[in-house]
Amino acid sequence: MKNATASISAEPEWIPAPSGPLPVSLGARRLTMEPPPSYPSAMVNVTNRCNLACEHCFVFRDGNPNDHEGEMKPERILEELRRLRDRHGLRRMMWMGGEPMLRWRMIERGLELFEHNTITTNGTIPLKDFGPDLIYVISLDGPREVNDAVRGKGVFDQVMKTVAAIPDGFQPTVTVQCVMHRQNQDLVEELVRDLLPTKVQGMTFGFYVPRLGEVSERAWETNEEREKAIDIVFDLKSRYPGFIWNSTRSLDLMRPATAKLVTDHCPILQTTLPLYIEGDEFTTPFCCYGNDVDCDRCGSWGVFSTATKIPGPWDSPDI
Ligand SMILES: C[S@@+](CC[C@H](N)C(=O)[O-])C[C@H]1O[C@@H](n2cnc3c(N)ncnc32)[C@H](O)[C@@H]1O
Ligand code: SF4
Ligand code: SF4
Repeated sequence: MKNATASISAEPEWIPAPSGPLPVSLGARRLTMEPPPSYPSAMVNVTNRCNLACEHCFVFRDGNPNDHEGEMKPERILEELRRLRDRHGLRRMMWMGGEPMLRWRMIERGLELFEHNTITTNGTIPLKDFGPDLIYVISLDGPREVNDAVRGKGVFDQVMKTVAAIPDGFQPTVTVQCVMHRQNQDLVEELVRDLLPTKVQGMTFGFYVPRLGEVSERAWETNEEREKAIDIVFDLKSRYPGFIWNSTRSLDLMRPATAKLVTDHCPILQTTLPLYIEGDEFTTPFCCYGNDVDCDRCGSWGVFSTATKIPGPWDSPDI
């Protein structure tokens, strides 16, 4: 059983340090322009199918490539990923969807293409032991009722069953990501306590990425209003040290004084190639979160975590 003194105390170094200048977003042109821009990382939606219909999900927003009719076959995906790896110098792949574990047999073959691999899954499909180098990120957005209000009735229990079924000696690292929003921000500590006695090794908190101009119960209206949620994660980090993997620096960068400085120079646009399926091809939307996003209120864990690893205007000694 893990406890508050578990040995994993720092955010893992999942993103290889980039070398040289990196390109900003070029939308779909990224895949055809010459010379090809290089990226250390990519994220790929290996399917547009999903067995859940979470209310907050950016993938299924209008205006994104998310049609599952006639989508790429596994062989074609692998062939294209190999080509894109060589074209853009990709070293790290984040396997996503839709639900990526619906295509776990294909992912198993694709892992060898990249030096670092992360599978982000809704946790309703049993995890496979693909070896010690893989990181699983399981999505849970609160304790039972809070999670199920977003991810669907019965989903929390199903995911906890998946976690309970992880055998002794399972080699991949298993983590949980919780997306904080205005409605669950005060209710996430119970999730931490639910997970501590399990084989989950640590947690990260992401923060809701709204649509442009979105006004909803879920979306904070301003980054000032969001600051309370950041303080909640700081508090959890101090009371469950080692289990909450968001770094102090990445959380501090999310505060109103610096958040826009980071999102105006989005580190993910610079380092990560987003690959969405459109029919028999890969395409790139504006960013990993699709085409309809409000950058000024973006709470992506990856954005602020990557900012701590690459140089940017947020490094100014005055900040
Ligand atoms: C789109 S899902 C795809 C992988 C898998 N189906 C899952 O749920 O983990 C990847 C991650 O994005 C998160 N996510 C979805 N919509 C979001 C949003 N609007 N803002 C921030 N994160 C979001 C999900 O909770 C999940 O952790
Ligand atoms: S399980 Fe993942 S892809 Fe499916 S709807 Fe939920 S967040 Fe979106
Ligand atoms: S929504 Fe977030 S990840 Fe996407 S470009 Fe804007 S700041 Fe970057």
